[in-house]
Amino acid sequence: MKGFLNDLYYGFPEIRSLMFLIPPLYWFRREIAKVFINQIMDIRPKTILEVGFSDAFLTKRISLSLPDCKIFAIDTSLNGVERAKKLGLKNVVFLCQDFFETKEHYDLTVSMHVFVLFDHRKALKKLKEISKISLISLTGVSLFTSYHRPFHRFFTGMDVNIIEPEDYVSIAEDEGFNVEILKVNHIERSYIVKLEVK
Ligand SMILES: C[S@@+](CC[C@H](N)C(=O)[O-])C[C@H]1O[C@@H](n2cnc3c(N)ncnc32)[C@H](O)[C@@H]1O
Repeated sequence: MKGFLNDLYYGFPEIRSLMFLIPPLYWFRREIAKVFINQIMDIRPKTILEVGFSDAFLTKRISLSLPDCKIFAIDTSLNGVERAKKLGLKNVVFLCQDFFETKEHYDLTVSMHVFVLFDHRKALKKLKEISKISLISLTGVSLFTSYHRPFHRFFTGMDVNIIEPEDYVSIAEDEGFNVEILKVNHIERSYIVKLEVK
């Protein structure tokens, strides 16, 4: 049953994306994607690893903004990968791969709304092996995240590791990163973190 619900939730991104038809959620997602793109354009990487692309909402925007950049977009959902391949994004390689199994190095790692699923210290250690610079979004405590958490756990069996920006900064500094908090959405409490290996 759990496997079926997880496949339903992550294997069919467009079904999950229906929740983004709720206007504020869609707007938040667009807003946070814009900050990612501005940052990526400043960094001008030649290679990017995107972790957990899902319906390729961010991938499409990166692909169009940096046509000369090679993007490796990974997700653990095989269904999602098959669907994304049909988008025909020329500079993107879609792969069914677990972030923690990644071996290669990239100029930049990006990930929108995925690292909330990971143990933060374990994920930071992995990021350090892969890229000197990373941009990830996370979520702090809000009414929205409190409601979303049990819903997510029910469908995927995975917890959402909500963390306040200042707590994340302290963990990431301890793991050997220079950390910058770039944007906080005060309703959804999502924020973007720029991490640079010291
Ligand atoms: C909450 S969705 C976020 C999707 C998208 N980035 C967005 O902002 O809409 C999380 C995605 O991460 C993927 N995922 C979960 N664990 C993963 C892992 N260990 N490695 C790669 N992808 C993972 C899931 O399959 C899912 O598509």
